[in-house]
Amino acid sequence: MAVARTQPLTGAPAAREAPAPLHVAIVMDGNGRWAKRRGLPRTLGHRAGVEALKRTVAAAPDLNIRWLTVFGFSTENWSRPAAEVAELMALPKRYFESELGRLERDGVRVRIIGRREGLSQDLVDICDEAEARTAANDRFFLQIAFNYGGQADISEAARKLAGDVAAGKVAADDIDEALFASYLSTRDTPAPDVIVRPSGEQRLSNFMLWEAAYAEFVFQDVLWPDYGPEHLKAAIDEFHTRERRYGGAVADDVLATG
Ligand code: FPP
Repeated sequence: MAVARTQPLTGAPAAREAPAPLHVAIVMDGNGRWAKRRGLPRTLGHRAGVEALKRTVAAAPDLNIRWLTVFGFSTENWSRPAAEVAELMALPKRYFESELGRLERDGVRVRIIGRREGLSQDLVDICDEAEARTAANDRFFLQIAFNYGGQADISEAARKLAGDVAAGKVAADDIDEALFASYLSTRDTPAPDVIVRPSGEQRLSNFMLWEAAYAEFVFQDVLWPDYGPEHLKAAIDEFHTRERRYGGAVADDVLATG
């Protein structure tokens, strides 16, 4: 089985070494369809999705995953019916009520990315508490994208950067990819190695648009509430079959022989 390279190729073939820990990002999709198939309201699909998240977080460290980013609520999800939005807004509380103590003890650092504006004060407090209580942890990183949109994140970064240029803190000529990325909400996190989307859909839906530049994509035919360690393992196994070239080429393949 090929071991996926997690560093850009710089000419010399990569030495055989232990694979670097992975950043896996997941679009937790299929809650509504899962509920519909059972004749249940969509809200119960979302609650079942919280259970799948618990299973996935528990399984991730054993698969050499160190960063896990999950898409919990997009800036476009506000257009759903009010009752469903209310249920989605209640999910972080539901999750942290049962899990925060465990995450704290297990060395997991939690970060919630996305706009805090538009969230209730209760929810903002829950997010702040989860981040504060786990701030000293560094064994595993759980990043929850909530009220998050890739385009919103990029435009917010551009707005802040433009402000810093106008204030004379940054010279426009110094702007490059690394500087721009330092203004994104994901600034302290490596780019995802693999983006996983269950449920059969094959699109990004405004998730990690900048960060996805060299991510591998794995699409799986399982609805998120049914997701478990075996699906995560299958996604990682699939990732390890990929050869990552980052726009480069494998030196041995460049010159034709014979
Ligand atoms: C998309 O499925 C899923 C969501 C909009 C919500 C996902 C959230 C969770 C699984 C739990 C989040 C937990 C925390 C802690 C935030 P969909 O409803 O669009 O599914 P469908 O395409 O089948 O309708």
